Formats: sequence, C-alpha cells, structure tokens
Amino acid sequence: MDALLAELAVICGPEHVLTDPDVTAGYATDWTRRFRGRARCVIRPGHVDEVARALLACGRHGVPVVPQGGNTGLVGGGVPAGENAVVLSARRLRRLDPVDALSGQVTAGAGVTIAELRAHAAGAGLEYGVDLAARDSATVGGTIATNAGGILTIRYGPTRAQLLGLEAVLGDGSVISRLGGIQADNTGYDLTQLLAGSEGTLAVITAARVRLWPAQPSTLTVLAGVPDIEAAARLQAEIRALVPAVRAAEYFEAAGLALVRAHTGLPAPLARDYPAYLLADAAASDDDAERLAVLAQLQHAAVAMDAQARAGLWAYRERHTESISAQGIPHKLDVAVPLARIAQFRAALDSVIAKADARAVVFGHIGAGNLHVNVLGPAPDDDSVDDAVLRLAAEHGGSISAEHGIGRAKAAVLHLSRSAAEIAAMRAVKSALDPDGLLNPGVLFVPPGRRPPVTPPFSPGGTTPR
Ligand code: FAD
Ligand code: MLT
Ligand code: ZN
Repeated sequence: MDALLAELAVICGPEHVLTDPDVTAGYATDWTRRFRGRARCVIRPGHVDEVARALLACGRHGVPVVPQGGNTGLVGGGVPAGENAVVLSARRLRRLDPVDALSGQVTAGAGVTIAELRAHAAGAGLEYGVDLAARDSATVGGTIATNAGGILTIRYGPTRAQLLGLEAVLGDGSVISRLGGIQADNTGYDLTQLLAGSEGTLAVITAARVRLWPAQPSTLTVLAGVPDIEAAARLQAEIRALVPAVRAAEYFEAAGLALVRAHTGLPAPLARDYPAYLLADAAASDDDAERLAVLAQLQHAAVAMDAQARAGLWAYRERHTESISAQGIPHKLDVAVPLARIAQFRAALDSVIAKADARAVVFGHIGAGNLHVNVLGPAPDDDSVDDAVLRLAAEHGGSISAEHGIGRAKAAVLHLSRSAAEIAAMRAVKSALDPDGLLNPGVLFVPPGRRPPVTPPFSPGGTTPR
C-alpha cells in the first residue's frame, strides 16, 4: 500500500478507503457515462475533522482531490479525469439536526440527500425550497457546490437563495464554519455565497445551515398542449399572472414525450398530440382554479388535483432524463435565454442540430428561461455540437449554464458567459484559497496548457466580442 493510502486509512478507517477498481469505477464515471477517469482511491470521511486531515495528507503528497456527493452531476465535475486523484465522497457526512421551528432553519450534513432534507422539513410543517428529479441521490453538498436549480426555482430561487451559512474545509485543511443561522450579518466577505456554485474547486462543503419555508403543498397540476415554445412561454406568464402561488412552470416537446412513452410505457397524456407541452404546478385555491378556466389554451389540458394524478402528469416531465440516456450517451447542454428571445433561440437551434447531423431533445424549466438541450448522435468526445449550441445561447443573450454548472464539460468555453476580467477575478480567488490547485483541477477552468477556447468570446447581452 502506498504511503498516502496508509495515512488515509488511519484518518478515515480502512473500511472507508476504497481501492477495488470494480467498486471505485462507479465513483469515477459520471451519471451520463460521458465523463470517466480512474480514482487512485475513494475515501468516505465521516466527520469534518477527517475531511480536514485527509485534505492535508493529500496536499502533502501533491495528490488532487475530487469532492463528490450523489454523483448525479451532469457536467463531469464530480469525477476524476485522469488516474491520480482521490475521490472524496461526502455521503457519510449525514448530520441532520432537529428543525429550528422558531427561526425556520435547519442544519444538514453535506451527505444528506435532498429527499431526506425535504422529508425532514415536512415533518415540521415546513419546506426546503429546492427539489429536483435526482432528489433521492443528489446531496446537500453537491447541490450547494453546483448551486442547483430544479423545479421550484421560480418559487424559492436556486440553492444559493436557501443558504444561511456553511461549514467547509479549505485545501490547507482549515475549517470555516458559519452554522449559527444569523440572518443579519454584515461582517465582510460572504464566504457562504462564494462557495455556492464553486463546484468543488474552493473547498469541501461538510454541512449547511438552510432556511425553510412555510409548507405550501401543490394542489393543482396542469399539463397543456401548445403549438410551440412561444405559446408555452406566453401561457406560463398568463398562469403566473392569474395564480400567484405557481410553484413550477416546465416545458417539453413531442420528441421528448415520445421517448418517455417508449421508455416507460405511459399512455398519451392528452386526447391528441401537440408539438409542445407546458406543465404548471400551483398551490392553488378553488378560486385560482376557476380563474385559470378563462385561459383558452387550457381547454385542451389535463388537470390533476389529487396527489396520484398529479404525480402521473409530472412523470412525463421528470422521466425525460432517464429516457434520453436509454437512447445513448447524450451531450447535455443546459442553457438559459431571456424569455423574450426563447422562440428565436429555439428556431435557430434546429439549424445548428441539423448541421451536426444529430437529434435534439429539448425540455426544461421554462419559467426560468432554462432549456435542457440534449443532443444524441455525436461521439462523446466530439465537442463541436456543444460549442455550437452554447455559442448560440450566448448570442441570444443567454447563459451557457443555467443550473448544472461548468464542470469539465464547459470549462473550455467559460469565456462565452464570463468576461476576461471576471475569469481573471475567479482565478485569483481560486489561487488564494487553493494555491496548490489541490481541489478539482480541470473543473471550471481549463488547466494551463490544455485545450484553448475554440470560439470567440461573446458578451452575455449581445454579440460583441470583448
Ligand atoms: P455530484 O454530482 O456528486 O457533484 C457535483 C459537483 O459538486 C462536482 O463538481 C463535485 O466536485 C461538487 N461537490 C459535490 N459534493 C461536494 C461537497 N460536499 N463539497 C464540495 N464540492 C462538492 N440539476 C439541477 O440543477 N436541476 C435539476 O432539475 C436537476 N435535475 C436532475 C435530474 C436528474 C435525473 C439527474 C440525474 C440530475 C439532475 N440535475 C439537476 C443535476 C444534479 O442532480 C445536480 O447538479 C446536483 O446538484 C448534483 O448533486 P450531487 O450530490 O449528485 O453532486
Ligand atoms: C431536469 O431538469 O430534469 C434536469 O436538469 C436533468 C436534465 O437536464 O437531464
Ligand atoms: Zn433541470
């Protein structure tokens, strides 16, 4: 056994240092199967002190560390690229304190899943404001590190909006902890927000203090057929204007529905087929439901008011990801564009996909202007369609990552969404907090000397190179 493995076995316990390649392979391959490496070993620390000592040991040996939660990330950020890195699984950091009902807050360990956190909050009559189809595996730490969005973003904001404080370990083993839940706290740099969306490049998150909301369960789910994305964008705005308690506004198209039905055996949701669909979910009163009846597009909708029927409608949306993966290894491009330009973007996307001789399945959180462009056809290591789609989003004033992050997948094109000055500032932060580049090298930033940007930069607001 090499010296580092021996040290890690002392720190975490030998049973929590995994080296069997059949076991570690699962930690070194991402959910999409597009990104894979080999892990020198996987460590599963069970306490913040073990995380700190493990990072110190890896640093002393000059061995990089890839933090990992539920490994549901879709941009290759949670798996190693080469063979040298240690994967640090945070799944055993499972602290889950009693809900503080007075403040509406709770402290949760990084390895607690989103489903567990939501159930814990619900037990106290409260709700955690993040939910996503990967809820049974995605962790508190991973969702903070990616600043995950999900289906409730239009109601409660993304993960960063839920954060009141973090406990985390920096690359040098120092622990920063702010779990007191003080909301009024203007004492300098907000390190909690800095770590939200840092994708494991600045620190290992070990626990979080999060806000909870008064529970406001969904009572009404509507699935409406629409002629196109423009109609879907309009309909979601009309619904949100009439019913303030809308929780989700989701979009999918005929091609995605066909894949879901083929994969799951679900029946057609509506009496006839439509080119596109809007799924809206609300904590609606009877009055709200009556108000919605005035919307012409809802004459052809399925409306569900009990939990089972509502889940049935949600399945058409939530089972897209697995149904697409059953077809092959997708290129998952998660973009956001202003709603006013979403139809223009969607039309231009068809030409980009046709040129690439590929097929695209488009769905997403339309209420947030967030579209998931899943491209099937190109080889996993052929990035040309990725570049073309991301560039198109930037040209339409959008973001190349709405919610999944940059990871390894988009590191070479970060400049499409961030200016040179912003990237320089971000690199300066990285150098200050992780001077030896111990944490997640190759994620967010291309390592020095690697693939240069292949496309010219665009400003997020237009097409002006800078
Ligand atoms: P991982 O995949 O393990 O890691 C993700 C990133 O976070 C990596 O860069 C990793 O290094 C870092 N990281 C993980 N844990 C830590 C830690 N403790 N400290 C520091 N860094 C860490 N995403 C959305 O935003 N919205 C959705 O609606 C959504 N739906 C999904 C549905 C399905 C079916 C699937 C498979 C994925 C979906 N995702 C979605 C993507 C994914 O679930 C999120 O990115 C999620 O936040 C990843 O959490 P995780 O615990 O699996 O993290
Ligand atoms: C979703 O919204 O379902 C996810 O972000 C997963 C995906 O993009 O496949
Ligand atoms: Zn999503």
